[in-house]
Amino acid sequence: MNPVVVVTLEVNGTRQQVEVEPRTLLADVLREKFSAKGTHLGCEHGVCGACTVAAQAAGHRVETVESLAEPDGSLNELQGAFQKHHGLQCGFCTPGILMSLTALFRTTQHPSEDQIREFIQGHICRCTGYQQMIEAALEVSEHAGDVSEHAGSAR
Ligand code: FES
Repeated sequence: MNPVVVVTLEVNGTRQQVEVEPRTLLADVLREKFSAKGTHLGCEHGVCGACTVAAQAAGHRVETVESLAEPDGSLNELQGAFQKHHGLQCGFCTPGILMSLTALFRTTQHPSEDQIREFIQGHICRCTGYQQMIEAALEVSEHAGDVSEHAGSAR
């Protein structure tokens, strides 16, 4: 029998406890134990960016794309901008890119195009739809929207 460890973490505002094998990937825990299916696995090595979530190890706080929508299920400002600008094609990379951009907007309310491009440069979009994503993020930046206000807030 494989050894297990008990991990306590906060997932999208809810404190959770789970038993996992020590080698288990966080993305697998989120998908399989907490039904956070928006966290995608691409290369399975943490290189392509698809599995990106916002995590703070010290507090064991993890935020997935599921945390971004408003309480009534409507899209937040950044998600709405992606929809408006057709910032996704197949959608596989979208959750990870949304989480990276959310992190950017938390520290920089009006990021420039260069800052946006630099922040998502670690993501690989198989559909190569980067330009529309940039346009969506620039719209949010220009309108001074605060996508971090709701993202990850405890419910
Ligand atoms: Fe298809 Fe990015 S939209 S991988």
